[in-house]
Amino acid sequence: LAFSKISPITRVNSLKILVFRSVFVFLLLALSATVSFAEIRTENLWWLPDNVTVGGKKIDVLFYFIFFLTTAVFVATFVVQIWFMIKYRARRGVKARYTHGNNTLEVVWTTIPAVIFIGLFIWSNRLWNQLRHSTPPVGALQVDILAEQYGWNLRYPGPDGVLGKTDSKKVDPIHNKYGLDLADPASRDDFITYNDFTIPVGKPVHVILKSRDVIHAFYVPEFRLYQDLVPGSTISWVWFETTRTGTFAIACNQLCGSGHYNMQSKADVVTEEAYATWFAAKAKNPAAPAIEQAQPLASATAPSSISTP
Ligand code: CUA
Repeated sequence: LAFSKISPITRVNSLKILVFRSVFVFLLLALSATVSFAEIRTENLWWLPDNVTVGGKKIDVLFYFIFFLTTAVFVATFVVQIWFMIKYRARRGVKARYTHGNNTLEVVWTTIPAVIFIGLFIWSNRLWNQLRHSTPPVGALQVDILAEQYGWNLRYPGPDGVLGKTDSKKVDPIHNKYGLDLADPASRDDFITYNDFTIPVGKPVHVILKSRDVIHAFYVPEFRLYQDLVPGSTISWVWFETTRTGTFAIACNQLCGSGHYNMQSKADVVTEEAYATWFAAKAKNPAAPAIEQAQPLASATAPSSISTP
């Protein structure tokens, strides 16, 4: 009876709104599903992946502190609210009472959160400075990471342990992506891998992050590390120290083009001995000879080789 009183136009409109809302919710769910597919994980799906860095432990302590604090506040406020709703519900014969509030209570419940927030600010700010704005330790393994659509180039220092000089003027999109300056002796033994980031466990690793084209992101959840790579700038403050071996996904976390979904690399954290073996095999093939070989070809096609009177 009540439904028949509603005009047909209102009924059509409410149907439209219902359909619109259903589609919206469906799309939202579909979107969240794609996010969860992006990461290859088989365990601990409903919580953070295990942390495997020294710095990550400190981040997790802060995270859990905030998590349990907010959970406690959430539970406490809802318990009080529900209790008040029942205790002061409308009842026959009970008159509502007007109150101005309580100044002491106001001061207390403003001061406590303010102190907590200031404390959290100091804690997190100090931690951030310590982890992201500190000088990498001397002797850290340096890896020069160059992101591109759609993969990760990784340049390692050869047996000399020093990354050679690069020069943007020497960049060749095919033969010399890094612009390796072969006049620098330290450059001659550097080797390059593709989508293979192998590092020794327990050793500080300093990654130098660059992008060739658009914004990418170096993201390893297990390292508690996320850093955007911006074309034209060299990000040199990211370093970390791993605590255990394992293979983890480096997933690019900025929508960088049609192949973004597949821009992955593995981060292989291996034992010191396994790293030495891997390193010895890779160091046999430095990048320099290939660059030198390609040079006459490159210069023959370059406009600078055209002779002028
Ligand atoms: Cu690179 Cu997404």
